Amino acid sequence: MEPNFESLRKEFPVLKRKTYLNSGSYCALANEVRAAFDAYMEDRLLVGANWDVWVTKNESVRSLVAKLLHAGPDEIAVTASVSAGLNALASAMHFSGPRKKVVVSDFEFPTNAQIWHAQEPRGAQVVHVPRAADGYIPLEMFEKAIDEQTQLVAITHVCFRNGAKLDIPGIVRLARAKGAKVLLDCYQSVGSLDIDVKALDVDFAAGGMLKYLLGTAGIGFLYVRDSYVQSLLPTNSGWFAQAAIQAMDITANRPAPTARRFEAGTPPVVNCYAAEAGLEMLLRVGTPAIEKRNFALTRRCMQRLQEIDWPSITPSQDERRGATVAVPSRDSAGLSAELMKRDIVTSYRDDNVRASFHFYNNEDDVESFIGEMKDLRASFAPR
Ligand SMILES: Cc1ncc(COP(=O)(O)O)c(C=O)c1O
Repeated sequence: MEPNFESLRKEFPVLKRKTYLNSGSYCALANEVRAAFDAYMEDRLLVGANWDVWVTKNESVRSLVAKLLHAGPDEIAVTASVSAGLNALASAMHFSGPRKKVVVSDFEFPTNAQIWHAQEPRGAQVVHVPRAADGYIPLEMFEKAIDEQTQLVAITHVCFRNGAKLDIPGIVRLARAKGAKVLLDCYQSVGSLDIDVKALDVDFAAGGMLKYLLGTAGIGFLYVRDSYVQSLLPTNSGWFAQAAIQAMDITANRPAPTARRFEAGTPPVVNCYAAEAGLEMLLRVGTPAIEKRNFALTRRCMQRLQEIDWPSITPSQDERRGATVAVPSRDSAGLSAELMKRDIVTSYRDDNVRASFHFYNNEDDVESFIGEMKDLRASFAPR
């Protein structure tokens, strides 16, 4: 049975005041996520240091992320950010042998390129796959870049700049043929699309709770395929990455036998409360239904933009995009600010305004956005 999306909308108070199309930056806050923040405050006020509950929350987040990605809990590290997870992973990799190359695409969020460039003093060679003349990256471009010297193909699922989705199964096939591993940065897709890391056959995946996972900043995850966990020894570490956290043994580094070895220090406790509530809500609604709704909303939005003669640059085929519709503008910052004055919350990157949809949006939101865009077209559409 399809979730009752109209009734779910009532759980997000901001939707009463704003047309909220900014989940690709920061999700709308649900009542139950706010209640989770409150529960943390209550714990602090009434109990003080509720250490046992805190640790349980961290483990609960791990299990929920595992369920979401169709992975095992022992394959999930709960991290402070995507950057923290990638740094721990990079620290466990070696670039002195024949496989020095890390292939990234021109669609990467900065951190998933910068962290690999940061490995250059350790021997890494970072190769960028450029976009074609149409602004997108066809598989052939990856085919040229991935070879026997490639250790890792580190790619975004959905591009934060234009909403385009990369051909992940195609890229994984190319990587496998050359013996390279694949890291998926799924921050722009997780929670808005249905993701199965086993079906996608990626080796690593990273994301966070701030966007479509309904949580907050300061918490993320790293998935590491179980068969690689034990052979990767992070040098970025900490006491929560140890096999026996409470052993307090300062004589050696004894990393956890699970993906917890990619964690570091004290968990982001308050963020765990929020992340747990957000993930529980998201899993209740169900990512297959969410994906279907997001495709319907983005499709509708793109059609309506065509009708007002201000077409989006995001690919029109469902299988080539995520939940963001990017609209080009001669002044994207000015357009986003003008929309905000009219209670339409968007964001902008490069020359595009981004309207990001989630299950709590509806067709009225599309119409409100289109109505204002029509009004602003003369001042902001590309010349
Ligand atoms: C695709 C992608 N990766 C990574 C990040 C950010 O990562 P971090 O958690 O390190 O801030 C973002 C956005 O903030 C993103 O859109």
